[in-house]
Amino acid sequence: MTRHAYRAALLHMLEDPTRAPAAEACAYHADGLLVVEDGHVAASGAYAELAPTLGSDVAVSELPGRLITPGFVDAHVHYPQVDVMAAWGTQLLDWLTTHTFPAEQAFADRAHADAAADFFLDQLLANGTTSALAFCTVHRASAEALFEAALKRNMRLIGGKVLMDRNAPAGLTDTVETGRADTEALIRAWRGRGRLGYAVTPRFAVTSTDAQLAMAGELAAAHPDVLVHTHMSENADEIARVGELFPDARDYLDVYDSFGLVGPRSVFAHCVHADDGALRRMAAAGASAAFCPSSNLLLGSGLFSLKQACACGVNTALGTDVGGGGSFSLLHMMGEAYKVGQLRGDNLDPLQAFYLGTLAGARALRIDHKVGNLAPGKEADFLVLDLAATPLLARRTAQAKTLAEVLFVLAVLADDRVVERTYLMGELAHARSG
Ligand code: GUN
Ligand code: ZN
Repeated sequence: MTRHAYRAALLHMLEDPTRAPAAEACAYHADGLLVVEDGHVAASGAYAELAPTLGSDVAVSELPGRLITPGFVDAHVHYPQVDVMAAWGTQLLDWLTTHTFPAEQAFADRAHADAAADFFLDQLLANGTTSALAFCTVHRASAEALFEAALKRNMRLIGGKVLMDRNAPAGLTDTVETGRADTEALIRAWRGRGRLGYAVTPRFAVTSTDAQLAMAGELAAAHPDVLVHTHMSENADEIARVGELFPDARDYLDVYDSFGLVGPRSVFAHCVHADDGALRRMAAAGASAAFCPSSNLLLGSGLFSLKQACACGVNTALGTDVGGGGSFSLLHMMGEAYKVGQLRGDNLDPLQAFYLGTLAGARALRIDHKVGNLAPGKEADFLVLDLAATPLLARRTAQAKTLAEVLFVLAVLADDRVVERTYLMGELAHARSG
């Protein structure tokens, strides 16, 4: 048995703050203690209460001025799109053709995929993201590269080979049969290894035939422990195209629904233009939405209404959508989500934003029994945040009067320098240089 304790301010969410009183939703200790034993949280709470329970043999790391939080969860990201971040001048459909498909073609080369996977996962950890739901490319080896790199780091990561059998360049398409065979082989080889999970990943309704979406639905039904991960209702031209391709569907969600792809293990990225009816059907099915504010702003997709999604009962999490999104940081996504809210007349509460980036993400990915907060028994994926990482942060956080204010300062002003250390199952996985 190895035990280690960390003393700092400590924050994690126990519930959705819009659905529970603040005292029940949020656990915050200005002088807190996190006790880790064999990779799991043994205890978390007030230092004054927990310190007397520690044996004299337990080492305590004293971390003044630091904030311990759970690792962040990125509910929608593309590992092969690092090199298309910050592409200027296009919206979704042109962006895919001009920038993204060419970049994804390079993943036919396994060495390229291996190097990209290493870079990508190191970026996640440097930004405090310990779990993610990630698109790969259509190439089976692209998923193998990501899984191998995540297994090596012991990350709780869910990925999937993209399914795409039309409206994409040669070299980036599979077929119903190769898509099925590759997906089944990947599920067999990787699902449940270490902390890995699999998501059946049709890119979006535009790039799969009816037959391929039906096959994806069959795979999801045959493997009740895998997720379904796709895009929905992101961009006006995309939605019009889906209307042309599926004239009998009542709306975009209905396309997926008619092929058995809408259920409690489904994560739909964007949902910017989904109406109340679609959002309510998602909620009734237990499906989740990944709100990707940075991407939605950069690609000019539109302003997601978090308020509407919550009112309709949809579990909503945050995604960076790298490379549509412009940062790997979930803290930055919290700030971007606030700005989207501002443009819609809604003020996103900082604690709600923090929930979206942690426990809500874990819930969307169906890993909340393992991660998402620092409750006893959870896997000890946690961060040590340095509230004085830069002169500006030091100055601004020192003046903050409430926890919400500290969080909001981080959401607006922080970058990866604030993440001093990232731990995976109690092991140091990233330490900031300097
Ligand atoms: N819709 C279909 N593919 C993509 C993609 O790669 N990124 C985003 N943002 N939307 C998509
Ligand atoms: Zn995406």
